Amino acid sequence: MTTYNHNVKLTVVASTVSLVLFGLVGCNSDSDDNQTTKDNAYYQAKAKAIIAKMSSDEKMNMLIGPGYDMSTFTINSAAVANLKSSVDGAAGYISGVLNSDAGVDVAAAVLADGPAGIRISATRENESGTFYATGFPVGTLLASTWNVALAQQVGAAAGNEAKEYGVDFWLAPGMNIQRNPLNGRNFEYYSEDPLVAGAIAAAVTAGSQSEGVATTIKHYAANNSETNRMNVDNIISPRALREIYLRGFQYAVETAQPWALMTSYNKLNGTYTSQRADLVTQVLRDEWGYEGLVMSDWFAGDDPVAQLKAGNDLIQPGGVNFANGGNYTDYLTRVKTAYSSGDLSDDVIDADATRILTQMLKTTTNQGVGGTNNPDLNAHAKISKQAAEEGMVLLKNNAALPISSGKKIASFGIAQINTLKGGTGSGDVHSAYVTSIADGLGKQFTLDATLKDYYETFFAANKQETTDAFGVSTIVTCAEAEVSAADITSYAANNDVAVITLGRNSGEGADRTNTAGDYQLTTLETELLTNVATAFHAQGKKVVVVLNVAGVIDTAWKDKVDAILLAYMPGQEAGDAVADLLSGVANPSGKLAQTFPANYTDVPSASSFNGIDSDSDGKVDTNYYNEGIYVGYRYYDTFDKAVSFPFGYGLSYTSFEYKDAQVSANTLNSKGATGSVTLTATISNTGSVTGKEAAQVYIAAPAGTVDKPAIELKAFAKTAALTAGASETLTFTIPAKWLASFDSANNQWIIDAGTYQAYVSPSSDVAAITPVTFSVSEKIVVSDTTAGALALPDGISTADFETTFSK
Ligand code: BGC
Repeated sequence: MTTYNHNVKLTVVASTVSLVLFGLVGCNSDSDDNQTTKDNAYYQAKAKAIIAKMSSDEKMNMLIGPGYDMSTFTINSAAVANLKSSVDGAAGYISGVLNSDAGVDVAAAVLADGPAGIRISATRENESGTFYATGFPVGTLLASTWNVALAQQVGAAAGNEAKEYGVDFWLAPGMNIQRNPLNGRNFEYYSEDPLVAGAIAAAVTAGSQSEGVATTIKHYAANNSETNRMNVDNIISPRALREIYLRGFQYAVETAQPWALMTSYNKLNGTYTSQRADLVTQVLRDEWGYEGLVMSDWFAGDDPVAQLKAGNDLIQPGGVNFANGGNYTDYLTRVKTAYSSGDLSDDVIDADATRILTQMLKTTTNQGVGGTNNPDLNAHAKISKQAAEEGMVLLKNNAALPISSGKKIASFGIAQINTLKGGTGSGDVHSAYVTSIADGLGKQFTLDATLKDYYETFFAANKQETTDAFGVSTIVTCAEAEVSAADITSYAANNDVAVITLGRNSGEGADRTNTAGDYQLTTLETELLTNVATAFHAQGKKVVVVLNVAGVIDTAWKDKVDAILLAYMPGQEAGDAVADLLSGVANPSGKLAQTFPANYTDVPSASSFNGIDSDSDGKVDTNYYNEGIYVGYRYYDTFDKAVSFPFGYGLSYTSFEYKDAQVSANTLNSKGATGSVTLTATISNTGSVTGKEAAQVYIAAPAGTVDKPAIELKAFAKTAALTAGASETLTFTIPAKWLASFDSANNQWIIDAGTYQAYVSPSSDVAAITPVTFSVSEKIVVSDTTAGALALPDGISTADFETTFSK
């Protein structure tokens, strides 16, 4: 059983154990380094002792990255102090310090992206070896596994690659809430729900940090669109922030203590997130107990002194910030000037530098571990494939799947050749290969050779290669190939089943659009679906659609076809994972971590996304989060909006029965804020093949101090692989803290008194589930929060912009 248990601390400093034993670089190591269990306090004490020996210039040098050459998209590694070994394609460095007079030798640290695997250059000048990294499934697909143990394995595999390639800080995972399907970076993120986002991020963090690599949860906070992302001001009520946009970060921090966190580009209620002390100090550190370092996103914000004072310890990538058209003085110079004038105190630079150094001392370079440049890519490919298979979601299956291996398949769609392993930008990975869907299918079925040849020839003749705006990804595009209705009829005659693969890319720096070719199908795609369905159905043959997409697309066409497999962007093993699921070698067990609405216009933020141009300068500058806490299923369920596929939904080739749901313990009344509710339910495989089931617990809270969504996900767990007839009893624990709602009027997390209904359900569609109940006799104040934190800008109140929805 893999279960997300809120009570289990995933802190893993202690499990870096043997890695820590050898050779803390330089003269700061002492016999204490041989202890096997070290917590943050141990490294903090070491850091403080080192900081006491450092000059103010050395400390400030650690706070600001080395600078960036925008013409070549490379980091100025020559400016990094005490760099032991540079890594081509790294996103940044943290300067170390070498001062033999003072007896200090701290090696610089290496920082590399990104959420689907370690993004470094695959080749290096004057070096014959290669440095490929495993392309794992994108974040959304990983979350759709609902399998925290598997997410932890992916984190450990990526962390191991970081370690072996000499990377100290992994700039992942991305865990912003998928507020709207058109956010260009949704593929990097996990879910519309903060529990899923937080639990998966915590697991990935635990995995990576078990390898001694710092994990950097990002982008804190409310980075939910890409349009004018470096300046847009997101106006969000404190309650929506607390319950939706910060909640996942809180889970990850309190459960796994990531060693690093990256603030976001956007402003929040009037101020850049990296410059808000309430966000990065009061809430993150004082309320949640965060121990790690905080770094800026690359070129974020406009005032390094304000960033450092707020508690954003590290500013990347340093040099000149181009946010103001490059019209800023070099950041290090600005910081040094502020220090000389007394505007920046020793207390601030000491606190920031201590937090940075504390984490640097834990990581690979300063521990003298890893660095073989030879990770086990074959083992990691298997983990990538398993994650891809467990995350893909079977959305529809009208007796079309699985397809038995002897069958002849007519495989349509250019994305079967131009298969997308992931999105573009810093979330891309330089993997050694990507198995296309056509190649994967070809290993298990007989593909119509004429049709395959047609697509391959078309692709070779029409593909176009460009580089993304950041010089990071090579983007290969190709128009959809047209197949005539007459040809489709003959393919229907000569084959047993049709598979149509539709593709949609997305990337950093731009949002998607609700237009044909993006959220909507093109005319050509619609014709392809219609003509294939007509011709194959006329012969009594099935049509299967595979969606190789970055995120939600329109599915109003779903009735035309017999089966839909949502493959998202599955990483380098794409084709083999799709083939395993279509053939039944693997049984689908992924479930949606995001809703597929009936129409884009049903999305509660559809009318406000992605902001307004309030000063009419041609750029979006303000983004009012009009839907408040009603994001995703919280909206659709509360206001009875029909959806195409609900949150939490996914089919299997077997069937499951949920039995004996019960509340096995309720200590909320005896223990209050430290109490919890525990539920159990037995899941039985009532079908004929082995399968896993992700069970979810949704809570309907009683009316009380604050209005609440009809249901909220409060726990989930996935069974082990259950053979036909086998059962497993799952246990779900919900601590008071995660049951609570935020009462803005009183700055408190509270649990209202009354009867709570708990639905143990296969999806967020709980209509047919009989709930079990538990009671809270008196209102519980779970915690007080910082008064005035995260406030709306002066003169704006929640009522000015939040919509009052009705059924
Ligand atoms: C992205 C971050 C990334 C950083 C370094 C930024 O543009 O927003 O997610 O980690 O670049 O590449």
